[in-house]
Amino acid sequence: MNIENINRTLNRFKLLALLADNENKLISGSYLAKKLNLTRQSIFKHINALKEEGLKIDSIPQKGYKIPLLLQIDAMSPTFINYLLKENDLFHTCLSFDETDSTQTVIKKLAIAGASQGIVATADYQNSGRGRSGRTWVNSKGNNLMFSILLRPKLLPGNIQLLNLAVGLAIRTVLVSEYSLNADLKWPNDILINDKKVCGILSEVAGEPDKIYYAITGIGLNVNMQKHDFCVEIEKIATSILIESGKNISRPYLLVNILNKLSSTVKLLETPEGLKKILKSYKESCATLGKEVIVSQGKETHTGTATDITEQGALVVKINGKDMLFFAADIKHLRIK
Ligand code: BTN
Repeated sequence: MNIENINRTLNRFKLLALLADNENKLISGSYLAKKLNLTRQSIFKHINALKEEGLKIDSIPQKGYKIPLLLQIDAMSPTFINYLLKENDLFHTCLSFDETDSTQTVIKKLAIAGASQGIVATADYQNSGRGRSGRTWVNSKGNNLMFSILLRPKLLPGNIQLLNLAVGLAIRTVLVSEYSLNADLKWPNDILINDKKVCGILSEVAGEPDKIYYAITGIGLNVNMQKHDFCVEIEKIATSILIESGKNISRPYLLVNILNKLSSTVKLLETPEGLKKILKSYKESCATLGKEVIVSQGKETHTGTATDITEQGALVVKINGKDMLFFAADIKHLRIK
């Protein structure tokens, strides 16, 4: 980015911050121009650019500009998301795409180019969204959260499952505490509401045997999808926040609530005490433990009772009286033992 583009981005950010700090209030163009040391024409241009990001800003001739109540904003505007992120000390930059192949690929390119941790990429639509075990991640345009984050965790590669558990735990905590949803964790990294999947998490890692270079964690969270947005097969196993709560949620706010929780949770991965804390909290809210489960690994399936999670995040399943460890597998919950 050249200096002109940097200044343009900064001025747009400052303009949005002025409007957002005065949400739902009319602010005159001359006040904004004076505050930002810009011409009124330049303010007009920046307002139009913000509108192109999807923000609904009222422009009232001779009077000024007004942004609606922030909690009502659903547009995945990068300037708005970066404004909401201003106090986050880990996630510093959010790139927002109307459409991309996969946010995992976007972040991977940045990781390889040496970007620092804390970059986020979101997309309103992915044309090649990836799920776990080589599956595709299907999505409905403009309704959900699909984003990937770049982390460079100080973890041994063998402990990478703990990152997945930490991310799942952070998201579940936000859904329960900020949105009063009855969300459950299904090992290793699904979040269910009423036994249907609302969120999936995928981590892709590059490193050496004793060092992780980077981890890209992708999150797909069904937010404002209605029942008829799902195809018949998926509707049986998946749900959304709207379906479960009856409420439309502001996606930028939900994203930033999650990123704020993630930044404190991810820091816990750096110390042995922090790791213990994550594991303890994860076990306390993991719906898989105590359940009879079917475990699928490639072509093999086993049925048993999930009894514990190890220090490395593996699932312990009692099968025919013997404990078996699973580091990665697909799990189906049967019933509570
Ligand atoms: C799963 O299979 O449960 C994991 C799904 C992960 C989907 C997310 S959506 C954002 C990011 N980009 C992708 O292509 N996949 C992840």
